[in-house]
Amino acid sequence: MTETAPFLFVTDLDNTLVGDRAALETLNERLKWHRYNYGSKIVYATGRSLPLYRELAQEQALLHPDALIAYVGTTIYPDPDTETADPEWSQHLSQGWEGAKITAIASNYEQLNPQPDSEQGAFKSSYFLTLEDAETVLPALKSRFAAQELEVQIIYSGGRDLDILPAKGNKGYAVQYLRQKWGFYRYNTVVCGDSGNDISLFSTEGVRGVLVGNAMPELQQWYRENANDNHYLARSRCAGGILEGLQHFGFLP
Ligand code: GLC
Ligand code: MG
Repeated sequence: MTETAPFLFVTDLDNTLVGDRAALETLNERLKWHRYNYGSKIVYATGRSLPLYRELAQEQALLHPDALIAYVGTTIYPDPDTETADPEWSQHLSQGWEGAKITAIASNYEQLNPQPDSEQGAFKSSYFLTLEDAETVLPALKSRFAAQELEVQIIYSGGRDLDILPAKGNKGYAVQYLRQKWGFYRYNTVVCGDSGNDISLFSTEGVRGVLVGNAMPELQQWYRENANDNHYLARSRCAGGILEGLQHFGFLP
């Protein structure tokens, strides 16, 4: 990797990019410089809805991204200042998505508490579920969906958040869509994350991955079970860990 080659930089927000203000400031300066001089691109991949993304962008010094992947990969905004979602991606996910059926099945489990309306996406059904209940509810839910032949995936993050998404839509797939659209090689793509909904980011072979030092147990466990030279577990937290990882892979000097 040469430090002057353009790269596709993808990062989760909560507890990955955001969480250490001083380190974020340093990282922002480096990324801004790289984007300006060499044409690197910056993408945020978050579980948040567009309104919650905008709240965060008000509170934190975030660079304007080249695209926002929101709702855990199920909506892509080419410009988060507008409400316009990438129509091709939405069209791709709409095939086979049966939101009403999913909600009906989920309502059979009292352990599933629906998240606020703002966090329900066009292709995302989200609930709160305790770690204790997850042990029994997750497998039961999976087999119910399978029995109904619903093409969905279940993502559990941080011992709290349960997302039900189309089988074809998650953060990782959304990144591959943008990567191909923009013509970046896998080895010129780096993804960063801290929790369960980031696992899909790390699942594309050849893509470089940085796990921040404060990664949640579910991601740490995945890392141990899928050891790979393309994945780097940083020592530092949040943006500090990202900087460490970008240097490790030679994206930044
Ligand atoms: C964000 C979203 C929430 C989702 C969680 C995990 O917190 O707001 O809906 O469940 O990320 O993906
Ligand atoms: Mg996170």
